[in-house]
Amino acid sequence: MPPATQSAAAPSHVGIIMDGNGRWAQARGLSRSEGHRAGAGPVRTILKAAHREGVRHLTLYAFSTENWARSDEEVGNLFALLAEYLDSETAELLASGVRLSAMGALDRLPSFARQALSEAMKATAGNDDLTLTLALSYGSRAELAAATRALAEKVKSGALAPEEIDEARLAGQLWSADLPDLDLLIRTGGERRVSNFMLWQLAYAELLFTDTLWPDFGEADFLAALADFQGRRRRFGRAE
Ligand code: FPP
Repeated sequence: MPPATQSAAAPSHVGIIMDGNGRWAQARGLSRSEGHRAGAGPVRTILKAAHREGVRHLTLYAFSTENWARSDEEVGNLFALLAEYLDSETAELLASGVRLSAMGALDRLPSFARQALSEAMKATAGNDDLTLTLALSYGSRAELAAATRALAEKVKSGALAPEEIDEARLAGQLWSADLPDLDLLIRTGGERRVSNFMLWQLAYAELLFTDTLWPDFGEADFLAALADFQGRRRRFGRAE
């Protein structure tokens, strides 16, 4: 665990709950899907800014387990938008040193979206400047349940003893196994909650909530969030 310190450096891992697309659209008399389309703009802007500022891991909550309950039209449009984004951005990701990754119950995704994801992940697999992870069909409780099940299987087969199960062993079974813990979690759109996003991984994250709706979240907002993070004293549960 790192020492208690004021973080002069940029956060290594930033997670973002990109909320507010629907309200942004509603305020303009547009459909929810048009709000999501507008939300793709800040994804590009924030990725660029994060890269430039030295962030190593950027994880975006793009579709939650709970989002499956939205209309077929909205869900279909979201995955079409994702495929379009990957289609138009993969060359740029590749050239700029970004590795694309995804985590969640990916087997639930429509096959065209899975295909687009797997092509983009394969193309960028050799990059390691910044990892962009899209949380898709993601829920932290489902992730923890799947990890627990995987450990139980190992115990059942005799490959693992119950007393060997510790925090590192559990973390190693999460969909996020290759990612470090979150340093900074940003939620746009005015709600002050974490909505089943990386509950394990945000144990010591700094939380930042902003009323700005995701389509309006720009580079200046992101830089302000990084500056806020850098001004905080992280104690990781210890005394000063
Ligand atoms: C939450 O806003 C946002 C989502 C469910 C989808 C997030 C998707 C994007 C930002 C699209 C672009 C992403 C990529 C990776 C290309 P909401 O619909 O819940 O908004 P509301 O709370 O105002 O209704």
